[in-house]
Amino acid sequence: MRRTFGIDAYSLYVPRLYVDLTQEWCAVRAPQLGIGSPDLLRGKLVAGIGIRKMAVADGHEDAATMAAMAAKQLIDATGIDPSDIELLSVGTETTVDQSKSIAAYVLGMLERHYGKSLRHVGTPQVQFACIGATYALESAVNHLRAGENTRPYAIVIATDISKYRLRSPGEYTQGAGAVAMLVSESPRLLALDPGVVGTATRDARDFFRPNWSRTATVDGKHSIDVYLSCLEDALREHLDRAGARRGLEPGIASVRQLLAEFDSFLFHVPFPRMAEYAAARVFRLMWEGSESHGERMRELAAGLAPDDTRELEKRLMKTDFFRAHFERTVAPSLELPGEIGNVYSASLYLAFASMTDAARRDGVDLTGRRVLLCSYGSGASAKVFSGTVGPEWKRVAARHYGTELRPVSEGGRRIAISVAEYERLHEHEEVVASAEAANGAGEEIVLVGPPPSVHPPRDEFVLQRLGRLSTPELTDHGYRYYQYLSNDGAGEQEVA
Ligand code: CAA
Repeated sequence: MRRTFGIDAYSLYVPRLYVDLTQEWCAVRAPQLGIGSPDLLRGKLVAGIGIRKMAVADGHEDAATMAAMAAKQLIDATGIDPSDIELLSVGTETTVDQSKSIAAYVLGMLERHYGKSLRHVGTPQVQFACIGATYALESAVNHLRAGENTRPYAIVIATDISKYRLRSPGEYTQGAGAVAMLVSESPRLLALDPGVVGTATRDARDFFRPNWSRTATVDGKHSIDVYLSCLEDALREHLDRAGARRGLEPGIASVRQLLAEFDSFLFHVPFPRMAEYAAARVFRLMWEGSESHGERMRELAAGLAPDDTRELEKRLMKTDFFRAHFERTVAPSLELPGEIGNVYSASLYLAFASMTDAARRDGVDLTGRRVLLCSYGSGASAKVFSGTVGPEWKRVAARHYGTELRPVSEGGRRIAISVAEYERLHEHEEVVASAEAANGAGEEIVLVGPPPSVHPPRDEFVLQRLGRLSTPELTDHGYRYYQYLSNDGAGEQEVA
């Protein structure tokens, strides 16, 4: 029997705090952004961007605590012995240290929490904008497939807090969260097809974050074009590889045939409308010149220059046949992203979680579904790969995140915060440069540490403090100390 490898289970961690973008935020920002009324801005967010709420990390949270929370939830839900983990990889673009891997911080948090030594575990961090976790996943799967492992599991965690400047067009595409994935042989959730990953990379300046900046710099419209063209290159590579494995003649006929076999299309979702643009690119390739849709595609292209594909795709997005296919094969994956925002490296995997969440709610059986996964990271790189959902998916994806993401008043765990609270957290600097050092020696770096929490932490990993010493006995200036706070708010013993 053919051996399979892939994602056995996943866990999603989303901070409790959120901003409802359709409420106070709209009223405050509409005049600041020069938009005629809060209603106009609300309409743009909901219909034009596809977003309603964004998750906000509290003062005690960062990419490392969110990663540790997702990993802990995964270990507890699956009941695996942490000693059976071979590899713990983290993909992130919002790292907490310029040197140390977040995975090593997570390892320490898990060791202390479970009282087990995990010294045998490999702990790399992979950074490449929003695609880092996909590179980590590919590497973990290949590690197991090659039989290099001595223990059965790898955990891949995608964790990020996306931040743009206040009052910029990126602001309403922020978010925060982490997804931890258990990677194994004979996975119960998603068996990944071997030998078909399509990769495309180019040296682009669409989106970046210099080392000195907490917020990303982005050329918004350009970033969308780079996303779409990288996606198309990686998709073509994926289809070439998949077609060759099936003995299909290369060319447009096999492109159409292979794409038509997918039941679900998952994309990197910086904001839900972006997945719609991406779907239009993929569906156009599937339908242009096809027996089923070729005639309608020719009608849509009337009067357009042959290379004006973006306009053709915009027209396509408005058709009934696009909408029907999109609703069936993409829309369920966009529900959670619309409630959480951009979680950068975790975004594709949040889309997967959203698809399973919606299927459970709607009584849809995903067993045997063919899924195309399209990952993208600015700067820029795309990977397209595929898999099949296993028969045990419902038992493994048992948690209903849609319900948990409701506000506390509606039985969920989320807490809405005001624009003032959100801006305080957003603008907080852990480190500031003071103009004058106490001894008059010019500029000095002052450690401020994490901001006060909006909601007191309970039952979670927290960033407790930053080290402040530079003495012969202990040097920890700027080192991050994490601990688990139990339900009564008591912390574990600190281990340096
Ligand atoms: N009602 C309905 N729709 C409305 C509307 C209204 N009142 N007002 C505007 N719209 C529509 C617009 O028509 C447009 O839709 P179409 O594309 O279908 O025409 C849509 O809302 C967006 O409006 P704008 O064109 O005015 O765009 P914007 O100035 O709000 O910027 C953005 C949007 C470029 C995405 C910006 O939010 C941004 O820069 N975000 C960060 C960068 C980003 O996410 N880029 C995506 C690709 S890069 C990537 O994927 C990596 C990553 O994670 C960052």
